[in-house]
Amino acid sequence: MPDTGLLPATALRPTAIAGRVVVIGLGYVGRPLAEAAAAAGFDVTGFDRDAGAAEAAARGWKDLPQAAGALAATPDPDALPPAGTWLICVPTPLDATGQPDLSAVVAALETCQARLAPGALVCLVSTCQPGATNGLCRPVLERGGLRVGQDVFLAVSPERENPGAPDGGPRRVPRLLGAPDPRSLERAFVFWSRIVDSVVPVASPEVAECAKLLENTYRLVNIALMDELHRAFTALGVPTREVVAAAATKPFGFAPFWPGLGAGGHCIPVDPAYLQMEACRAGAASSLVAAALAANEARPRRVVDAVAATMGGCLAGRRVLVLGVTYKPGVADLRGAAPLALLHGLAGRGATACWHDPVIGPRAPGLAAFPRAASPRECPGGAPEAIILGTPQPGFDLGGLAGLAPLVFDPFGLVPRDAAGRVRVV
Ligand SMILES: NC(=O)c1ccc[n+]([C@@H]2O[C@H](COP(=O)([O-])OP(=O)(O)OC[C@H]3O[C@@H](n4cnc5c(N)ncnc54)[C@H](O)[C@@H]3O)[C@@H](O)[C@H]2O)c1
Repeated sequence: MPDTGLLPATALRPTAIAGRVVVIGLGYVGRPLAEAAAAAGFDVTGFDRDAGAAEAAARGWKDLPQAAGALAATPDPDALPPAGTWLICVPTPLDATGQPDLSAVVAALETCQARLAPGALVCLVSTCQPGATNGLCRPVLERGGLRVGQDVFLAVSPERENPGAPDGGPRRVPRLLGAPDPRSLERAFVFWSRIVDSVVPVASPEVAECAKLLENTYRLVNIALMDELHRAFTALGVPTREVVAAAATKPFGFAPFWPGLGAGGHCIPVDPAYLQMEACRAGAASSLVAAALAANEARPRRVVDAVAATMGGCLAGRRVLVLGVTYKPGVADLRGAAPLALLHGLAGRGATACWHDPVIGPRAPGLAAFPRAASPRECPGGAPEAIILGTPQPGFDLGGLAGLAPLVFDPFGLVPRDAAGRVRVV
């Protein structure tokens, strides 16, 4: 246990813990955590209310090398065994009005609460707003009369996984850990220390919650700043990537962010809204965060505007192919993907918008409205009149793109310029 100076080391002495873990929510976060817990010797049951997700996990686990502990998955809450540790890994999206939707977290807490044995630990892994552990989790868990810190234990350890990273997996990323009381912190510290290399206890749940939101808000604001400055540098005729690379030679005080189509996915454009919700409630809403969220949302629209302006102002009937549609390179996930906003924006202006992407399957939900091109040379009705680089997937031949269409739009500044001027940075 590292000496954080926040708590006396004796408060965090390891104690014996029960060997059974339930992971609620078997998505991008819950599945690898379940596997990591089994690898550490826990007997793990994954629970997902989506039978397809539970079945997919169970199928995948059959092919895994034998873990030290057992791994099983079920969609039936009544099949859950009594467990020493419950991990809540359910989604925390935004609703249709852009407000945080905590319904899955509440439902997961109720699943735990109905089955909680004295001595059990519940750990919130989902990204939530500041105050969620004490203000949302604790009252639900205490509904049956058990007291947090005495009869049962509660902690928060927000996930910091980076999907698609080469050395990915939960083990190597340091885990922040906060709890409402020292006994809960101790209990959770012992659990997480078996699963990951580094646990970083912090002084309160709110510090852990805010730190997670700060990490992603920092990224959102800088991505939005970079995309706006990219517009300015491009208008000035200066290549943005060269500017960033030059600035990044400064050994302190600068972290490089690169131009793109805006931040997508389920975290960076979402988490700041959770922070903003509580900041608003406290009378301290951030206009900078609001501006970054708005600028990020506007970025694909601006790219469509630039494409339309270059193509004579009208896209009706024009064949435009979006190359790469996932929210980040190499990850088959369309949630919040900016290229989807591109496709909708193009179609909204009457273009024949199609897509090509070797990373995502042909029948991916969310893409059903748009024809898939078997290659970047084809659109329904003929060759594309323009290609927009949506996601620079690994293996794309960016150098060859200028040969595939009369116009190639590049929001990233990655496509080599061609003598004929087909490549346009947008
Ligand atoms: N995916 C990431 O890389 C990542 C990284 C850091 C943090 N997070 C955070 O982790 C949390 C989980 O994200 P995810 O990407 O794994 O989500 P996900 O959508 O991939 O998976 C969540 C799963 O939970 C299930 N579920 C929903 N409600 C449930 C309930 N009440 N009981 C049982 N199962 C339920 C869903 O069916 C789904 O399979 C979110 O708060 C997210 O913001 C995700």
